[in-house]
Amino acid sequence: MITFDQIETELHPIFARYANDVRSLDWLIVNRDLNGRVRLIAPESAKLDTIKLPMLQALAVDLAEALRPHSHPSETSILFEDSREEALQGASAFALEGYDSVWIADRLATEGDWAHIEGESQGAPRVVFFSIKGGVGRSTALAATAWAFAQAGKRVLILDLDLESPGLSSSLLPDERQPKYGITDWLVEDLVDNGEAVFQDLRATSNLSHDGEIYVVPAHGADPGDYIAKLARVWMPKVTADRSREKWSARLRRLIDDLERRMEPHIILIDSRAGIDEVASACVTELGAKLILLFALEGSQTWTGYRILFEHWRRHGAANDIRKFLQIVGALLPEIGRDEYVRGLQESAYDLFADTLYDDIPAGDIIGDRFHFETTDELAPHSPWGLKWHRSFAGIRSLHGRLSEIDADEVRSIFGPVIKGIAESLGMEDVGV
Ligand SMILES: Nc1ncnc2c1ncn2[C@@H]1O[C@H](COP(=O)(O)OP(=O)(O)OP(=O)(O)O)[C@@H](O)[C@H]1O
Ligand SMILES: [Mg+2]
Repeated sequence: MITFDQIETELHPIFARYANDVRSLDWLIVNRDLNGRVRLIAPESAKLDTIKLPMLQALAVDLAEALRPHSHPSETSILFEDSREEALQGASAFALEGYDSVWIADRLATEGDWAHIEGESQGAPRVVFFSIKGGVGRSTALAATAWAFAQAGKRVLILDLDLESPGLSSSLLPDERQPKYGITDWLVEDLVDNGEAVFQDLRATSNLSHDGEIYVVPAHGADPGDYIAKLARVWMPKVTADRSREKWSARLRRLIDDLERRMEPHIILIDSRAGIDEVASACVTELGAKLILLFALEGSQTWTGYRILFEHWRRHGAANDIRKFLQIVGALLPEIGRDEYVRGLQESAYDLFADTLYDDIPAGDIIGDRFHFETTDELAPHSPWGLKWHRSFAGIRSLHGRLSEIDADEVRSIFGPVIKGIAESLGMEDVGV
């Protein structure tokens, strides 16, 4: 009896027995269903082929036996489809190592697809604040960034997408400024074509800045309403009258595009949920981000989590698509022993990038679009932008209270490298820090 993780390993010796015949097929899918049971999906044309069909049947018998209990009985273990695209139907898929035309497809109960990376959006740059663990100062850094960009005269749009533990907007806006509705309301109303009813009352202007504007779109409105009942529906895909299906992340993107058209911000800051979570997956991979900040504390808890994610990107062939957007942020740098701490962080981050997302070429080399930064290269995405722990931000109750009385020098000393890093990577060097 094998476990889920052994499925892929077990496939290799079996496929090796049929390698030449398998390679003669246009495509072949090893389908892992919702329960983690394996079936083959083969081209319809193979059904009438006197050589290919018996080969597939023999392969199916071997797989059914070797993959138990992660298999279907051999008599029901082959499905046929006209094309690979129809067979995949939105499943997450990656190639079986050593075979160009054999794909392992995963049917998942959730819609989040960490391995599908949407290209950068065309309008205002979108910056995602993500971390594998919570409570590392993401929302505070986002607020300080918004403040700095607004001070430089920029219009900043903030989206609170930490839907399951919202709080950014109540922290950024005093009670009397909270808008009536939030992102959750729009996602639920959109399912019944009623998004317009809440769209106008979805945003508020923060009073943090006196020069530019900071618009805040909260997770929920001033009165959250039946938030739990709404939250449980935000992930629903929308099926229209003509039976077309729009994933929830595509609906969210549509909302952000509409907000962007209406408010014409210079920059969009997205507060993502922490962890390997479905909403976080949409924020990181599907909203067209130009920059994804990965907040990190030095320690095995951080790196074990990021490694799971980075390995997934590598295995699914997404390394090239995602790595250009990533940047490590060294969160809450300690007052004592800071330099040594940062060195440790940089080395751990390098090990992770080198093992998973950098190309297998010598460190320091760039060959075409292949690259592998050196451990100490300050410009490398693994080289942390530092964000200092500072007692004036520890345990504060509201950011609008804290930031409205803020001293620019203090912001510069705590958040300067992050604000400067964002401004430079977006080509907005006029944002002073
Ligand atoms: N630079 C800082 N120095 C000291 N304390 C900080 C700093 N930034 C944030 N904090 C404090 O750390 C706590 C967590 O901060 P914050 O809410 O910004 O983190 P988060 O990563 O957004 O957390 P969550 O995962 O809960 O959303 C808060 O009490 C905050 O006041
Ligand atoms: Mg937060």
